Amino acid sequence: MNILLMGAGGREHALTWKLVQSDMCDHLFVAPGSDAIGLEPKTSCVDLDITDHKAVVQFCKENGIGFVIVGSEIPLVAGISDSLETENIPVFGPSKKAAQLEGSKGFMKNLCKKYNIPTAKYECFTNSTPAHAFIDQVGAPIVIKADGLAAGKGVIIAETVEQAKETVSDMLSGNAFGEAGASVVIEEFLDGEEVSFFALSDGKVVLPLTSAQDHKRAFDGDKGPNTGGMGAFSPARKDLWTPELEREVMENIITPTADAMSAEGLPFKGVYYAGLMIVEEKPYLIEYNVRFGDPECQPMMMRLESDLVALLYDAATGHLSRHTKTIEWNNAPALCVIMAAKGYPESYEKNTLIEGLDALENTSSMKVFHAGTHYKDGQWLSNGGRVLAVTSMSPTLEVSKLKTYDMISNITWDEGFYRKDIAWRALLNISS
Ligand code: AMP
Ligand code: GLY
Repeated sequence: MNILLMGAGGREHALTWKLVQSDMCDHLFVAPGSDAIGLEPKTSCVDLDITDHKAVVQFCKENGIGFVIVGSEIPLVAGISDSLETENIPVFGPSKKAAQLEGSKGFMKNLCKKYNIPTAKYECFTNSTPAHAFIDQVGAPIVIKADGLAAGKGVIIAETVEQAKETVSDMLSGNAFGEAGASVVIEEFLDGEEVSFFALSDGKVVLPLTSAQDHKRAFDGDKGPNTGGMGAFSPARKDLWTPELEREVMENIITPTADAMSAEGLPFKGVYYAGLMIVEEKPYLIEYNVRFGDPECQPMMMRLESDLVALLYDAATGHLSRHTKTIEWNNAPALCVIMAAKGYPESYEKNTLIEGLDALENTSSMKVFHAGTHYKDGQWLSNGGRVLAVTSMSPTLEVSKLKTYDMISNITWDEGFYRKDIAWRALLNISS
């Protein structure tokens, strides 16, 4: 069939790479895609305004699209799945209402409270006075979250009570995040190690995928500002993420969430991306995302051995039970390092020259996914904050790390930077 994928980043490049390996995919259209995505076999990029749902439906009809996959949360929260399903076009990704799991932190936290899903203790506020009283009561450090989508920037870990109060006032006044900050969640700080865990659901059946660990801070040693993610590896550190812990997460967090969503009349179809904090071997849910992680998706797609189109299509159309016990992963760890523009996550330059990419090996276990580049006059230029997602897979994490950094050493990009310590905890096998 012909498939439409929405998105343009490193995650979508990795999805493209895996989707076109499937015999079920005749042709893949990516909207908007990127120059690098357009180089993959069977793929073309289309200039389609994905905020215009009517235009998307019309494109699908005109091009015989049998299946749509949504990469990012933004179109999901805007209701693209609802618009496509109304026209009987199968789509991977939850409805607008079910996407509230990511779109509203308050919705997610209230669901956890109602259905006893372990998460940090919290309260929601729309008014500064009671919010400040709550901060006084809990003390610092304390976590302040804008309720709505804020491009990964809406979470502040306040080190002092004063900073917490200032942050809350800034958010509630609309100065910090506009409408997204009109309501805030204030929650206890959990001190532990983070794991990203992924599970697929068709609205009835839920199947575990795999785990990964991301590095959110910009600089080595987990220092500096929070980013969208500077590197990731999959699976997670094995001393931390044991089969018992995965079972516990499925039993106490993911399955109860799926049941809760159905009980609320909002059956969830798509991927659950659970951001977990492991505190003294106990898992707590920090957040849900309703799409694959970026950059977690890149090492995950390298490890996935099953047919991605079949999996996502059956999740979208209510046939996930076909895949019980058949989702296969390469046990070898894969590791991805992000090369970002100097200045990211604040301001940075675009259109800077990147050399050496075309000479690099491009195999099933070595690949540079492009997160933000374009190709002009025979040269690759930067076109975003996170620019390249250099990924490789080997029998051990040590070798995956060596191979990935060896690929990076062959890329010349004066205006770029990257972390040199991706997977440091896993390699030293120490907890935080
Ligand atoms: P979120 O967007 O909710 O994932 O938050 C972004 C980052 O903030 C997470 O990846 C954590 O590193 C951190 N964070 C969020 N909530 C908490 C919490 N309750 N305790 C400690 N860290 C947190
Ligand atoms: N890696 C973080 C995210 O995708 O939200």
